[in-house]
Amino acid sequence: ALPAHVRLVEVGPRDGLQNEQRPVGVADKVRLVDDLTVAGLEYVEVGSFVSPAWVPQMAGSAEVFAGIRRQPGVVYAALTPNMKGFEAAMAAGVEEVAVFAAASEAFSRKNLNCSIAESLARFVPVLDAARARGVRVRGYVSCVLGCPYEGEVAPQQVAAVAGELFAMGCYEVSLGDTIGTGTAGKTRALFEVVGRAIPRERLAGHFHDTYGQALANVYASLLEGIAVFDSSVAGLGGCPYARGASGNVASEDVLYLLDGLGIHTGIELQALIAAGERICAVLGRDNGSRVARARRGA
Ligand code: HMG
Ligand code: MG
Repeated sequence: ALPAHVRLVEVGPRDGLQNEQRPVGVADKVRLVDDLTVAGLEYVEVGSFVSPAWVPQMAGSAEVFAGIRRQPGVVYAALTPNMKGFEAAMAAGVEEVAVFAAASEAFSRKNLNCSIAESLARFVPVLDAARARGVRVRGYVSCVLGCPYEGEVAPQQVAAVAGELFAMGCYEVSLGDTIGTGTAGKTRALFEVVGRAIPRERLAGHFHDTYGQALANVYASLLEGIAVFDSSVAGLGGCPYARGASGNVASEDVLYLLDGLGIHTGIELQALIAAGERICAVLGRDNGSRVARARRGA
């Protein structure tokens, strides 16, 4: 049976904007986050506390946290790859953080400048400090359905990394198809394997739409009992190193799918579309959500 309720984790302000070429100012980021919560999103990844030399787009994250209008019942989260990031996040009043590892060694080096094992070792003090402060920590694993440098990634390797994140205290582990190469059958097989290491209610799906497979992969995940999905309003994002690459699956399109299946989310489609249209105007880019484009009549 499909889940009755799905939680959408809105990653547009973080995963989307970190990959947009045109810089977005603090006021526009704040407006985006506030628009998303007005639409009913209960979890928004607002930014990252990472090296600005690595990801300049996320440099103003503390200012964004200072500017947002916090709604009761909404979680505003940030990525923190190490203790420096965690301390900066705490200083900015962040109430939930996420650590991120990879299932492939080559991607770990490119993204975090260290091996998988080193990255996990750096997360341990973050988890400890978070526990001491009562801060929840989400975990990510990248390259779960393929790596741009190593190609195929074995589900067992994903399960091993995800299992370590769960064991060190991440309450949920999001499996990222970073380059969007996954297909529905492989997605089901992945959750089948990882679901033996971690309870399925503690797993989330994070699909990039580069190959146009993301919505199919969301549906395949639903069939495996997964009930948390990361998505990006207007399909924001893309990869600066791959021309024409798409961002995360569009939140509007996932919501349209879930609404059609009668799955409750608490999110209002028209308000979500409005949030996406506004940030697309700021970016001067076309809307990556098919649903938003259809509703516009374009
Ligand atoms: P490093 O260069 O090895 O770090 O980078 P370091 O510890 O040697 O420090 C070098 C400099 O960075 C120092 O400054 C540090 O203070 C500074 P300097 O002394 O030279 O002036 N530094 C920091 N500054 C701000 N915030 C910090 C921080 N840490 C060190 N937290 C590091 C290692 C992890 C910092 C770097 O590789 C990094 O920032 N990586 C982040 C990459 C990133 O954000 N990627 C995107 C998010 S992950 C993702 O998108 C995938 C996901 O969506 C799922 C999926 O789709 O697969 C989640
Ligand atoms: Mg991502």
